[in-house]
Amino acid sequence: MALVGSGSAVPAFAVSNTRLSERVDTSDDWIRSRTGIAERRICGPDEPLTPLATRAAEAALAHAGWQAEDLDLILMATSSPDDLFGTAPRVQGALGAKHAVAFDLTAACSGFLFALITAGQYLRSGAMRRALVIGADQLSRWVDWDDRTTCVLFGDGAAAVAVEACPAEADGLLGFRMRSDGTRNGCLTLAQTERHHSVLSGVDAQIGGFAPLRMNGQEVYKFAVREVPAVLKELLESTGTDPGALNWLLLHQANQRILDAVADRFAIPHERVLSNLASYGNTSAATIPLMLDEAVKDGRIQPGDLIASSGFGAGLSWGGALLRWSGPQAAAA
Ligand code: COA
Repeated sequence: MALVGSGSAVPAFAVSNTRLSERVDTSDDWIRSRTGIAERRICGPDEPLTPLATRAAEAALAHAGWQAEDLDLILMATSSPDDLFGTAPRVQGALGAKHAVAFDLTAACSGFLFALITAGQYLRSGAMRRALVIGADQLSRWVDWDDRTTCVLFGDGAAAVAVEACPAEADGLLGFRMRSDGTRNGCLTLAQTERHHSVLSGVDAQIGGFAPLRMNGQEVYKFAVREVPAVLKELLESTGTDPGALNWLLLHQANQRILDAVADRFAIPHERVLSNLASYGNTSAATIPLMLDEAVKDGRIQPGDLIASSGFGAGLSWGGALLRWSGPQAAAA
């Protein structure tokens, strides 16, 4: 699987830390020093996920030099769909990708990495040739805006990567690991509310609906700084990769302190750690491709660069992938 194009889209409206302190008891200084976040983008009520994800997908298609009809697969990682039956088909329809099968994959902040690895299996098996992997979330719809311990962390965004079948020697997915631990699910949830109603005499049913996001921040922090280095160490050892050979560390953007802690464990200089937390906060499944697209477009990531990536979050779920960026010029004819 070769990574040949990227694209992203964020809502126009930015909310600063200072603006948030109008609503909850917080401060710019607290949020910056504890997380590295300065502002986040928020979708308005008339900005659902589908158009945002479609814009990101169109940008990735244009970057790869593909037409929508070229796609065999659209895999959309999201935990905040427009439609619980699937948002990827709406994106497929909006793109006019009439040959592509499209479905959602839910794995919270690990979602994009899990989707990229999943797409890789279809491409490597020969079942499919071209895929678009999208990470898109708008957790602004699901956070409790009166809970200062969570509402300051999240933002909205979408990004996509175009991936293509290729000869084994050009494969850009050099190794991967995926992990889940449902026994720690309660650390970070966006669960169904417990409300029921009487449908018929003697027949009760649950009313569908989801509670706001709830998180034990300290437990999630400890989980991240323990499991991310462990999974990356395994990945680097299994692929015989020296951390010094990495061009970039591309982690899920949750907290600058987590990025720094992981980099320090591998003695990776901080200038090789990609971060755009200050501008966007945690956009869940979108963070990794959003950061990748930014660094590709501003020229930091070059064709041939070796990237260690790790996603982690609710589930609990986490994983790592060792990637080599090809870029559009490497796309097979
Ligand atoms: N503004 C001001 N004070 C805040 C605050 C905010 N937005 N949020 C929490 N506080 C307060 C707490 O109430 C607590 O006050 P107390 O000491 O009077 O009880 C104090 O700050 C310290 O809280 P604590 O939870 O210990 O802070 P922390 O240093 O652990 O930072 C997080 C909190 C959430 C930033 C941190 O735990 C974290 O990043 N966890 C991982 C979260 C994450 O990455 N989630 C997504 C995974 S995909």
